Amino acid sequence: MPTISQIRADFPILDRQVRGHPLAYLDSTASSQKPTAVLRVMDDYYRQDNANVHRGVHTLSESATAAYENARLRIARFINAASPKEVIFTRNATEGLNLVAYSWGLANLHPGDEVLCTEMEHHSNIVPWQIVCEMTGATFRYVPITPQGELDESALAELLNERTRLFAFTAMSNVLGTINPVKPLVEKAHAVGALAVVDGAQSVPHLHTDVQALDADFLAFSGHKMLGPTGIGVLYGKREHLEAMPPFMGGGDMIREVKMSGSRWNDLPYKFEAGTPAIAEAIGLGAAVDYLSDLGMDWAIEHERSLTAYAWERLHEVEGLRVLGPGPEKRGGLLSFILGEIHPHDVAAILDLEGIAVRAGHHCAQPIHDHYDIPASTRASFYIYNTTEEIDRLVVALHKAKSVFDF
Ligand code: ALA
Repeated sequence: MPTISQIRADFPILDRQVRGHPLAYLDSTASSQKPTAVLRVMDDYYRQDNANVHRGVHTLSESATAAYENARLRIARFINAASPKEVIFTRNATEGLNLVAYSWGLANLHPGDEVLCTEMEHHSNIVPWQIVCEMTGATFRYVPITPQGELDESALAELLNERTRLFAFTAMSNVLGTINPVKPLVEKAHAVGALAVVDGAQSVPHLHTDVQALDADFLAFSGHKMLGPTGIGVLYGKREHLEAMPPFMGGGDMIREVKMSGSRWNDLPYKFEAGTPAIAEAIGLGAAVDYLSDLGMDWAIEHERSLTAYAWERLHEVEGLRVLGPGPEKRGGLLSFILGEIHPHDVAAILDLEGIAVRAGHHCAQPIHDHYDIPASTRASFYIYNTTEEIDRLVVALHKAKSVFDF
């Protein structure tokens, strides 16, 4: 296995200084850093093969198409999709969730139907459902969380019923870190005849994902949180659903034939990929998936598990600091916290002076913060390139923040 220094050497940005300190990047939940392997394939594509895909018979277009489709194939393998036709390239997880909401939701939801999500969702897995419920007359409901930051299973048992048409939930909360039991939740949704939509934005970069074993109907994730570039994401969908759904957007590539009297749609996955896609970005995501596969998700999981357990212990040494969510054994590699009365933006600004990057705010998850009756939190998050030394620096800087605010 590579050493952590070898892994860090793959990420050029980790060499930079911030405000006179070595960068400690503890914000991978917002967006991860990119290894040279990803930067290189994107650069090579633009230098050697740049052309549009699926459109030309010339050499460049053929190589661009091959690289784009090869990336899809490797991503399909990474999540164990039954076919690459079930892997739709989107801009990000948000677009994938909106695709399901608008395409499946507008075609299938009616007054009396219910859509269920959870209180620990990112806005991307709340707002699209609220919008389509409003448009169709369906009812929007949500499963509350317990004080420990886990799904309230007894409430779930009542809320999931024969009126529920779709249950949308995150595999891992981007604020609490809570890892949800995806397979049992999918089974519960299916038991009442509902579809299961999984927000995998936080889980796919950090855990094993086997969509066939999970039996999820849809799963959305983003490339930029898993070592890939921004502007590319994936919606996995079971073929039978994708075949039955109308297109989300119209335009080039998604058609078989266009007449002024009407149009017919292309086969999967192109039916859902209107317009020139993010070609370099898809190729970059393919390289990111290769990097993670070569490293091994078991290694990544174990590394983040030990960092999280270490951070949990060390952060609790800071008096007045409260971590949101469950203990380290039930969470992924992120910790959101509040530090006494100090506003999270002030905490993050003081950490930045020490070269430490964290996120502060509501993290696009206001309902969770409402649950705890706080406007915001500070979040430190970890990935394959982080070290215990960076967590030590975080703890020292938090003590500094306390002394600045005389707390
Ligand atoms: N969803 C991203 C985050 O949690 C942007 O920071």
